[in-house]
Amino acid sequence: MKGSIGAFATCDHAMASAILSDSKRFGSFAVAKHKPIDTTVHDDEGRRLIVPMDDSFLAMDPPDHTRLRRMVAPWFSPRAIRQRTETIEAMLEEILDELGRRGGGWDAVNDLSVRVPIRVIAAFFGIGEDNYEDFRRWGGIIGTSVDGIRTMSDLRDFRQMLIEMRDFFDDLIAKRTKDPGDDLVSFMVQAAPDGEPLTGDEMIATCGVLLGAGFETTVNLIGNCILTVLGHEDVRQRLLADPELIPGAVEEVLRWDAPVQYLLRVTTESVTMAGVDIPADAPVFVVVAGANRDPRVFGDDAAELDITRPNSRKHLTFGDGIHLCVGAGLARIEAAATLRVLLRKFPDLQLADGAQRRPTRVVRGMTTLPVRQPVAGAAMA
Ligand code: HEM
Repeated sequence: MKGSIGAFATCDHAMASAILSDSKRFGSFAVAKHKPIDTTVHDDEGRRLIVPMDDSFLAMDPPDHTRLRRMVAPWFSPRAIRQRTETIEAMLEEILDELGRRGGGWDAVNDLSVRVPIRVIAAFFGIGEDNYEDFRRWGGIIGTSVDGIRTMSDLRDFRQMLIEMRDFFDDLIAKRTKDPGDDLVSFMVQAAPDGEPLTGDEMIATCGVLLGAGFETTVNLIGNCILTVLGHEDVRQRLLADPELIPGAVEEVLRWDAPVQYLLRVTTESVTMAGVDIPADAPVFVVVAGANRDPRVFGDDAAELDITRPNSRKHLTFGDGIHLCVGAGLARIEAAATLRVLLRKFPDLQLADGAQRRPTRVVRGMTTLPVRQPVAGAAMA
């Protein structure tokens, strides 16, 4: 479909998947050659600032994409993720016990969902609580920026965040070079894929993209999962009766209430698709939230929530092709663990008034999701 402003869009699952899998003809919008202006950012001393979503392998083509993705891939292998599951559940026990002691009401987004991915990502860098607040703020700014920076104040916040992030990672890389540990940064400073060491900028971009791509997305997946379960009594009862259904429920929420709604590509050459001629350098919106409800793949009830849908996993919420989300397995585990521990400790948690949706377009979820325990202090041990 061609829009009136010259952009193209598709909600068709087969076409969306074909576009995302064809990185040769449908390139990343962030790749410099597709940009009408140079958007490189510097600080006041002329130091280059790294923009995670533009300067990392997320926006690169092979061979650089392959080289850098290979560096982080082992940290996301099924085995590595299985090993993390226990730590994630223990962390959730701790957070939910604390919320239980508070009794009454709390915010399922700000008191719970944001705390899970922040800790998981901080663990990649081997850093602790002191940095959670900064990480949370930076991750939030990056997450909102994918909609486009629209005001001077957004721009100032974004630039300030890039300066702080550069300082932080420059410092961390120096520390880990001197005194390596068993974290991802230490691994990056020591390992050289294909014999070629990573530059400092590449390391910062790689760390930054884990925070940029792995934080807001996961916060919103967890929030959407909680909203879905507390908002559908039948779903809650089924999950309470059979917790084995939880991973399938997470998969269906990923499809039905996708935390990432669309992706953008730009044609690198003229392309004809489904009889539509798309010129070179044209923006193409891949509306994954639409493709996730394509009846040709998900049937006539594609718009309905069905936590035992056999093919939920065919959703495109994690993208497709070479840029398929490297953190997909981790995000699934974080969301499933949250539901598992939450339902065990608070089987009758209720939604409370005051829920608010995020105003963003790419990322979909809640800014706040108040919940309340029916009887203060009734949390189960
Ligand atoms: C619900 C949670 C998540 C969603 C919906 C999500 C979604 C996506 C999507 C759609 C892409 C492809 C972007 C494109 O093709 O333009 C992507 C790539 C990526 N994601 Fe995720 N993501 C999630 C969680 C995570 C986590 C937890 C991490 C890591 C901590 C992560 C790290 C990445 C990275 C590094 C890439 C770039 C992959 C590449 O270019 O090869 N994501 N993600």
